[in-house]
Amino acid sequence: MTALPALPATRIHVHEVAPRDGLQMESHFVPTDDKVAWIDQLSGLGYSKIEVTSFVSPAAIPALRDAEEVMRRITRRPGVVYTALVPNARGAERAVDGRVDEFNLVMSASATHNLANLRMTQQQSFRTLAEVTRLARQAGVAVNISLSCAFGCPMEGEVPVHGVLGWVDLYAELGVQGVTLCDTTGMADPGQVGELCHAVVARHPALALTAHFHDTRGLGGANVFAALQAGITRFDASLGGIGGCPYAPGASGNVATEDLVHLLQCLKLDCGMQVEALAPAAQALQALLGHGLPSAVGRAGPRWQRHPRPADFEQTRERALARERVA
Ligand code: COA
Ligand code: ZN
Repeated sequence: MTALPALPATRIHVHEVAPRDGLQMESHFVPTDDKVAWIDQLSGLGYSKIEVTSFVSPAAIPALRDAEEVMRRITRRPGVVYTALVPNARGAERAVDGRVDEFNLVMSASATHNLANLRMTQQQSFRTLAEVTRLARQAGVAVNISLSCAFGCPMEGEVPVHGVLGWVDLYAELGVQGVTLCDTTGMADPGQVGELCHAVVARHPALALTAHFHDTRGLGGANVFAALQAGITRFDASLGGIGGCPYAPGASGNVATEDLVHLLQCLKLDCGMQVEALAPAAQALQALLGHGLPSAVGRAGPRWQRHPRPADFEQTRERALARERVA
């Protein structure tokens, strides 16, 4: 039997994306006051980064039409990076006004999904985002690029590794600080995750690489494990497991933060977070949305949670022992 590759010995960074990737998929508009109070609650939970909102067209994503106000009113906690999604120069100007710590640029590794989601060809997106990167440098704001559909496109099918690497190379040349490989509709499998993550880590050791998985087909945890083995130490996750791209057919929730933190705790990897501490913020989210949350650990509790024995347990034991004495 071959030994499994070692897991990273360093701190694992958890990025909360529910305020953006999560809420963008909800039909119900969460009032701005409630968003601000809930994001402030998240700020105390140990995240390295929180994706607060999107500076996109309010017609495209009505749920996040209050981006400026949310950004202005949240209380920033030192040590937490407050990022926001930026698709174009208009979004960048709004995000600079909102004093974001980081632009999370977005384009798709799939030409079809890029057109469906952003209404641009990939080349148009790249030219736009190259300009946005220059704006960010002038403003002294960090830049991360999220590459959607990096593990497959629900319309186009397979997205070749060399194509994804080509985009990563181009953004690295532009001087971005980070790249996020996004499995937008949960098409990734652990073997493929290992291959792509290994390749990117080997080519760009200086880039801050993040993995962003959706648990659409129950492979989220397995994909996190494969990415850890490939040396990835930053993960996006969404509280309660909500989320998805409204412009990607069949999209469903991100890997739940509860499930990710639980997995990291089981693996004894330090992420500075405790699964139990997430419960009040998840309950607050459930109340805001008015529906249940898909997180497995949110529903079942962590594996170290204990339940009381059945009420008749002692009688059952006595009866079993008595039977043993007779025999
Ligand atoms: N913020 C606010 N408004 C914006 C904007 C931005 N970043 N970018 C464009 N707009 C507005 C324009 O002002 C214009 O408004 P008008 O119709 O009132 O004149 C309208 O949106 C259309 O602008 P245009 O430049 O033609 O954009 P488009 O229709 O080609 O759409 C995007 C391009 C990128 C703005 C749009 O597709 C978008 O916001 N997509 C985001 C999708 C998303 O967030 N998906 C989930 C995350 S992966
Ligand atoms: Zn996503």
